[in-house]
Amino acid sequence: MLSFDDVPVSGATTAKNPGSPAAAASTADKGLDFSPGQVEMNVTMAPGAGVTGLEQIAMSAHRITVDEKRIINCRADLNQLVPFKYEWAWEKYLDACANHWMPQEISMSRDIALWKDPNGLSEDERMIIKRNLGFFSTADSLVANNLVLAIYRHITNPECRQYLLRQAFEEALHTHAYQYVVESLGIDEGEIFNMYREIPSIHEKDVFQLQFTQELADPNFHTGTPATDQRFLRNLIGYYIIMEGIFFYVGFVQMLSFGRQNKMTGASEQFQYIMRDESMHLNYGIDVINQVKIENPHLWTAEFQEEIQALIRQGVELEYAYAVDTMPRGVLGLNAQMFSEYLRFIANRRCRQIGLPEQYPGAKNPFPWMSEMIDLKKEKNFFETRVIDYQTGGALSWD
Ligand SMILES: [Fe+2]
Ligand SMILES: [Fe+2]
Repeated sequence: MLSFDDVPVSGATTAKNPGSPAAAASTADKGLDFSPGQVEMNVTMAPGAGVTGLEQIAMSAHRITVDEKRIINCRADLNQLVPFKYEWAWEKYLDACANHWMPQEISMSRDIALWKDPNGLSEDERMIIKRNLGFFSTADSLVANNLVLAIYRHITNPECRQYLLRQAFEEALHTHAYQYVVESLGIDEGEIFNMYREIPSIHEKDVFQLQFTQELADPNFHTGTPATDQRFLRNLIGYYIIMEGIFFYVGFVQMLSFGRQNKMTGASEQFQYIMRDESMHLNYGIDVINQVKIENPHLWTAEFQEEIQALIRQGVELEYAYAVDTMPRGVLGLNAQMFSEYLRFIANRRCRQIGLPEQYPGAKNPFPWMSEMIDLKKEKNFFETRVIDYQTGGALSWD
């Protein structure tokens, strides 16, 4: 069962018997016998620097144990998934696979009729939909690029990487969903997919995010020093906490509000599935951030915490500007003032989740219904609304 995005940092502090003889023994019992020798990396690198998984592999009698595993700057071979150290990462991978969905499974027929009806939606409602499609279509692309080109390289743990691979696919599905909605409704693709360069509030959110990723995607960037490890931690917080944990939530509230009013139910349901995925991405990110902190407490200096808090407050300002820009007038029972309060409320929660003080004491949640929207029963919904069968088998050809 999935829960909303305030799940505690469940496993980050509870690595299963790290380094215990029992853990090593049970691994051997599982038939992981590479006799006559085991793999062992043979690589030269700067002290403290992590590995990529592409180093030379030498024959060895040495078996990797959980206490050799580290979330960053690990020096043990990264091609060996078990024994698990971070069970929470593996469990999230399994949960994510169990929640698989595809955009085409959701019927868009009612949305198409409403969108094409000149009196079906107000201009303000149409603008909300278009601007959210515009923001999310490039935001998910930025997240995916950051995952693949920056985060993946520097997370030096196989079970955490396993989840990252799943997350990267989900980000591709999200971008696919936006394209599918745009195509279904017959909206001008050029208008939507250029918004990040034409609408200031969208552009500014994307520019804000790029500061976190450009340096880390540089092939010459390596973790392993306090300064570069802090750069990496800043990236994790920038993407998981601010992008996926704050920048997505005005759009989620707006798009889900359509569905609550029985309008644009297909697009709203697409966003509901996306929000469920994103809630897990956020929870995974929180676990990773806290694990990096546990293993590297020297990074979490007072000065660094101040910097992070300032970035979160800046993120709240940028997201509020986006709320005003997408919804200059009250509509769907929402208004900009409600978003100001909501963003303060979720920023407080994000701060607590990574061990920072609340920035906006006393902020209340004006949208308590959001916590119910994450608990989406795929079976029930899809039996009612799905329009195609999976073509996995039928699409295969053996000749
Ligand atoms: Fe996404
Ligand atoms: Fe995500």
